Amino acid sequence: MDVKALLCVTVTLLLCGHSSAGPAVFPTQTGTCWAMGDPHFRTFDGYFYNFMGNCSYTMAKNCDIDYHHPPFEVEVTNKVLPDTHLTAVSEVTIHIYSLKIQMIRSELGTVKVNGQVWSLPASFDNGLGTVKLMQSGLSVVMWVDFGMTVQYDWQEYVSVTMPSGFMGKVCGLCGNFNMNKDDDLAMSNGTLVKSVTEMGQSWRVQGVKGEDFCTDECTGECAECSFGKRLAADMFCGMMTPILDLQFRDCHALIDPSIFFDMCKFDHCRGGGLKDYLCRILQVYTDACQRAGMKVHDWRHLARCDDPDCPAHSHFEPCGSACTPTCVGNSTCDLPCVQACICDKGYIRSGNKCVSKTELCLDNTIVE
Ligand SMILES: *[C@@H]1O[C@H](CO)[C@@H](O)[C@H](O)[C@H]1NC(C)=O
Ligand SMILES: *[C@@H]1O[C@H](CO)[C@@H](O)[C@H](O)[C@H]1NC(C)=O
Ligand SMILES: *[C@@H]1O[C@H](CO)[C@@H](O)[C@H](O)[C@H]1NC(C)=O
Repeated sequence: MDVKALLCVTVTLLLCGHSSAGPAVFPTQTGTCWAMGDPHFRTFDGYFYNFMGNCSYTMAKNCDIDYHHPPFEVEVTNKVLPDTHLTAVSEVTIHIYSLKIQMIRSELGTVKVNGQVWSLPASFDNGLGTVKLMQSGLSVVMWVDFGMTVQYDWQEYVSVTMPSGFMGKVCGLCGNFNMNKDDDLAMSNGTLVKSVTEMGQSWRVQGVKGEDFCTDECTGECAECSFGKRLAADMFCGMMTPILDLQFRDCHALIDPSIFFDMCKFDHCRGGGLKDYLCRILQVYTDACQRAGMKVHDWRHLARCDDPDCPAHSHFEPCGSACTPTCVGNSTCDLPCVQACICDKGYIRSGNKCVSKTELCLDNTIVE
């Protein structure tokens, strides 16, 4: 399994086409489900909905386990974003091969595995199967040997990609991946419903600590947006239109920009004038386009968006390597470029830091 195939399957929203890996390992068709912002979900089958519960939920799991389709579960925890009224995915927990892998908001460059902090890249093979984790651009990407990948940007965007062998076998907020988006609002007991809240509630992860006061309901302005706010949202999000039209022109055929416009309006209504909001939406769109191999033209300048913060001794590159060299090893990389924090000249990534090449590199991936 090379890194290209690994990241190929993380390509958002797309069927990846012919990857460099053989068909036995990698079916050419994959399905991607994602959540971003005040969570907007796109199911494997392409159904879009907004679900604002602030508890922990099953995003995707195997509901039809057999020898070739081992059990797994991807859970998301939604919490309020700092300085806003918006909720967003603040933690992704994956149960796979008796491992509990947690990706936590703001804990850049690290994951928790069975409660211990690891820096990336990290690889686990406990006899049940193999799981690999690496940092790619501003995200962590997890790859599981049967072809599933999970990407999280340590902020608000999570995507799960499944190989076609899991069609019709999965369940959760991401739906069943049966190529029919009309049956994606299913409760955990299988009953189809119209209400997103009812559906979401049924996928609550039970008994999570500290979640006695969370709610599955949307609070604040949800379905309705006042007239004044609607005007303001149209204006605010309208700023995106020329940028989406021009800077993202090469990507339109692959990813319809109108969903980003809709998400912007919805969140603007809920959250008020959010300075960084537009920037973060465009950042996610850029990531999806770039991973699909599309060029995105500079938009940060036009949209007056700051570059993301990078750790000490590193700097932001809008089109940087998707697999930067680390002390642990260099992955050969002919992947398309992505937005990334790249270590300055003379420094190399060691764990979640950029260290001077003369300093001792960490030789163990356990951070603490
Ligand atoms: C599933 O749960 C809902 C609400 O709890 C209930 O109305 C429905 O009848 C249940 N369906 C099945 C198949 O048990
Ligand atoms: C969830 O939202 C409700 C309503 O806004 C709030 O009262 C509660 O504290 C929140 N819970 C968590 C865990 O964020
Ligand atoms: C990785 O490549 C960099 C230069 O790109 C080199 O300085 C470093 O020693 C390499 N690390 C390993 C473990 O091969």
